Amino acid sequence: MDQAQIKAWIDALGIPALFVADDTRIIAANDLAISVYNLNVEGLIYSAALRQPAAIEAIHACLEYHKIQTARIHHTENCTDTVFDLRCAYIDKGLRGVLITLKDLTDEGKNTQLHRDFVANVSHELRTPLTAISGFIETLQGSAKKDEEALDRFLGMMARQSARMDRLVSDLLSLSRIEAQERQRPSDTVYLHDLLATVIESYKAQDVEIISQLNAHDHAVQADADQLHQVFSNLIENAVKYGQAGAPITVTTKNVACDARLRVPAIRMSVCDTGAGIDPIHLPRLTERFYRIDGHRSREKGGTGLGLAIAKHIISRHRGRLEIKSKISQGSEFTAIIPKR
Ligand SMILES: Nc1ncnc2c1ncn2[C@@H]1O[C@H](COP(=O)(O)OP(=O)(O)OP(=O)(O)O)[C@@H](O)[C@H]1O
Ligand SMILES: [Mg+2]
Repeated sequence: MDQAQIKAWIDALGIPALFVADDTRIIAANDLAISVYNLNVEGLIYSAALRQPAAIEAIHACLEYHKIQTARIHHTENCTDTVFDLRCAYIDKGLRGVLITLKDLTDEGKNTQLHRDFVANVSHELRTPLTAISGFIETLQGSAKKDEEALDRFLGMMARQSARMDRLVSDLLSLSRIEAQERQRPSDTVYLHDLLATVIESYKAQDVEIISQLNAHDHAVQADADQLHQVFSNLIENAVKYGQAGAPITVTTKNVACDARLRVPAIRMSVCDTGAGIDPIHLPRLTERFYRIDGHRSREKGGTGLGLAIAKHIISRHRGRLEIKSKISQGSEFTAIIPKR
């Protein structure tokens, strides 16, 4: 293999890669490697260009002993820390030297951390009602054994706690099903105004005043009706729970010729309330699982903190996006933007 061939192979790899020839010069580096080092390292002596002692040691050993070498390296560029698994393999066909590849471990680390946080959150959310139920059982077995009135009250509270656990488990199952389907495009033809009308109707029966301003015209989209129903139910339910008590909620639809971020024609469906609004520091985290601004208030209202996380996954399955705008003491606007095609 000559230098041009090595360069072509390295360019085709989907991870940062470099080739150090026997004379210790870097004779090829792909764009990914160049962006890691923020420097065109081609033509430079590897020990001067790469700087990390662990990397230099591994490359040196590979050049010397012609054996595979690995190292974990911590790289800092523009205040961002990245962890890489570096692998060196000696090649002695044609041009001789060391092929170095870098595997980014940062995301894996983040995923493991996210997974740990998720398990801890689920355990905590389940343990709270479970502890309450155990407490009631203990009291009913002990001091309140013969107290009929207490029995009634406690059974009612136990039923509420077990309903809460049931909701949590259903939401978790729903979330994992939606995540598994996220790459499958929905294929039903859904008339968004009809769907919204059904959701709105169910809230009107609960004495919630909803003002509809359904202005979109071409409103049939390729979608999953049940899932979009779930999204709008949660957005309207949130507006009821966290908005101003008794004040009307406005549901609006609008066509956009080209959404600025999705870059396709889309339909915007917004749910607006006139509640206390949301501090901007919370906005980027609202769609995280179990993230609540006021956990106590959410739990009191029967929330699991999964509604917006589920909504976000459903909307992304529809290749759309969720936009959240809010002004303190004026209210919030949650908009699902769904592409028309
Ligand atoms: N319209 C809103 N106004 C103010 N805060 C809101 C609004 N909608 C959501 N939030 C905040 O975002 C948090 C997350 O909402 P999300 O729908 O994910 O969970 P939840 O409503 O608490 O529980 P669930 O949806 O499972 O019933 C809420 O707990 C609340 O703090
Ligand atoms: Mg909710």
